[in-house]
Amino acid sequence: MKTISKSLLTLLLLATSSSAVWAQGLKDAYKDYFMIGVAVNQRNVTNAEQQALIKREFNSMTCENDMKPEPTEPNEGQFNWENADRIANFCRANGIKLRGHCLMWHSQIGRWMTSDNPTKEVFYQRMKNHIQAIVSRYKDVVYCWDVVNEAMTDDKNAEDPYRQSVMYKLCGDEFIAKAFQFAREADPNALLFYNDYNECDPVKSKRIFNMVKKMKDAGVPIDGIGMQGHYNIYGPTEKEMDDAITLYKTIVKHIHVTELDIRVNEEMGGQLRFSREGVNVTDSVKQHLADQYARVFNVFRKHKDVVDCVTFWNLGDRDSWLGAANYPLPFDSEYKPKMAYEYIKDMKAPAWDLPKRPARPARPQGGRRGGFGQQQRPPFNPNLAFPELPGVKEDFVPSEMNQPGQQYPQVNSQGYARFRVEAPDAKEVTVSLGLGGRGGTKLHKTYDGSWVGTTEGPMDEGFHYYHLSIDGGTFNDPGTCNYYGSTRWESGIEIPAHDKDFYALKNVPHGNVQQVLFWSESTKTCRRAFVYTPPSYGKNKKEKFPVLYLQHGWGEDETAWSTQGHANLIMDNLIAEGKIKPFIIVMTYGMTNNIQFGGLQQFTAKEFETVLVDELIPYIDANFQTIAKKDGRAMAGLSMGGMETKTITLRRPEVFAYYGLLSGGQYAPEDIKDKNQVKMIFESCGSKENPEGIKNSVNSLKAAGFNAHGYISEGTAHEFLTWRRSLKEMAPLLFK
Ligand code: XIL
Repeated sequence: MKTISKSLLTLLLLATSSSAVWAQGLKDAYKDYFMIGVAVNQRNVTNAEQQALIKREFNSMTCENDMKPEPTEPNEGQFNWENADRIANFCRANGIKLRGHCLMWHSQIGRWMTSDNPTKEVFYQRMKNHIQAIVSRYKDVVYCWDVVNEAMTDDKNAEDPYRQSVMYKLCGDEFIAKAFQFAREADPNALLFYNDYNECDPVKSKRIFNMVKKMKDAGVPIDGIGMQGHYNIYGPTEKEMDDAITLYKTIVKHIHVTELDIRVNEEMGGQLRFSREGVNVTDSVKQHLADQYARVFNVFRKHKDVVDCVTFWNLGDRDSWLGAANYPLPFDSEYKPKMAYEYIKDMKAPAWDLPKRPARPARPQGGRRGGFGQQQRPPFNPNLAFPELPGVKEDFVPSEMNQPGQQYPQVNSQGYARFRVEAPDAKEVTVSLGLGGRGGTKLHKTYDGSWVGTTEGPMDEGFHYYHLSIDGGTFNDPGTCNYYGSTRWESGIEIPAHDKDFYALKNVPHGNVQQVLFWSESTKTCRRAFVYTPPSYGKNKKEKFPVLYLQHGWGEDETAWSTQGHANLIMDNLIAEGKIKPFIIVMTYGMTNNIQFGGLQQFTAKEFETVLVDELIPYIDANFQTIAKKDGRAMAGLSMGGMETKTITLRRPEVFAYYGLLSGGQYAPEDIKDKNQVKMIFESCGSKENPEGIKNSVNSLKAAGFNAHGYISEGTAHEFLTWRRSLKEMAPLLFK
């Protein structure tokens, strides 16, 4: 027993000592470089766990707000030290150094200091009193002060390098000199800093440098430059930081990084207006954050001769002035160390390149123009959003069915499709383009708040309808034009087909597609049809043309054949190549949308037959140069339009001489009462449909003595490329 408890004790001891090693914080990791500080609020110094975290990680502290001019002297001569004392006492008790922040700032300064339009002298007296009071009160614990905060302008185009603050307007830059003098008088031992943000920007860093140099040359006691360090994952670059520090080093011996945080969005700087929205923190964003922390610490370490303290602006993300969604600190909202923490502590090198800065101009913010790092949306960088996928070629281009100027959806040469949807508040975004009926392509939210995704596999060549499901609702993709299908206007995407030339828009004579509105007595409605007339139509008033009545499928309408079907372009190209004799095509609505799937058996197309045969055909024959007899008429249709074609041609054998069923069923020889009623039967489908059915039907029709032709579209299913190709194959067989 004794031996066991002894070894247990040893184990325990070992465990404690190793956890002591483990518990070493950033301050220990950086003991040979510089102090590591943190800006704190009241909660941080009163909550036991947060106190412990501070003690473990940091050896310098700053009051986030509690030593600022207004909180400490809200009215002239009326001091309020309670909160500042609490933090100072915490530092005293724990041997942590305290940075003083800040003595003079245009923000968080009591209005009383300037509101009564004081003379310069009165203002300087007020300033002196304030500085005297606070600096002497904390002399024992505050080892340095940010004496003047943010006195340089953000306006890149401004001629005057100074911020046009009330103090500056009243005193010019003399107020800066005075503040430093008063501070030195109050505590000759404290290091005195000028503190500012966007301090690595090449323009602003020059301004800061020039001002500090001018002051120092005039004997103003400035010991150091505070680099606030409100950065983001896109910048500054190591070079920009290195350049700034190298410049500052020439005039000061001390550089403190005073307010370090790194946003995951595009904003940076110390402006008090900013976005709290952040971005969706994906693994890649976490990596970018860790990498940018790795970069900035790499530069700080390089300049350890002049950098003596690096302070994080807040303890954990839940404290951050930027809001937790900006994900800016090494500790998350639960004070758990992030990957960034490890990168800082272990002095790791960044894993990736710096993401690109936005190319877009800054969004105006707070009425300011031309500032540094103002609010911007993150730039969309496809390389970040779409990781390389094995086997997927990166030759994506916008789909030709897109709205003008829209970059997404995109397609690549292998038939993969890529989507991007802006729906920043959505919880789920899916594209209905499915692979094997497995519910489409699930998009994921990427770093800029947009939803992105690539199809799991290549898609069939040709045109596909699709829509988006966003949080359960059905929407079109705003990137594409709309195409009528599935009884609604849908989004569409085109995977360029290897044979796309036959429906391409080329420099050949073009026919017209015109809309006609005709009265239908049977339905008591004015109905619409589109009429394709070939290029030569109307040139010779006596020339008459045969007519193909061409039907769309279930869920489509009279726009489909000439829009996504390109029927007119197919005809123009065939005519230009001399492959067909010109004919007219009439496309009207087949009244199919009301048919529920299930109700198909009962669908007789009787009403439509009346509209087509008894109302539209007489209208067309009366208004166009048609061969107004059976031999000059064909009827064909795709899918349900094929069913309509079959029933109507069989019921009205006196009207049409040519029949075409495109993915729309088959005729059996016994369906046709009189062999002489039909001059040609065309049947087709995609190879992914029922090619055997077509082949068998065509064989038996031929065997029965019919002029029957079959066509199988290779590699396509029940979609428009099948039907475009079918029209191209059928057209030369008509009206012979
Ligand atoms: C911020 C504090 O974090 C906020 O709580 C407060 O509302 C506004 O000021 N530059 C500075 C800091 O010098 O004092 C600012 O702190 C952030 C920008």
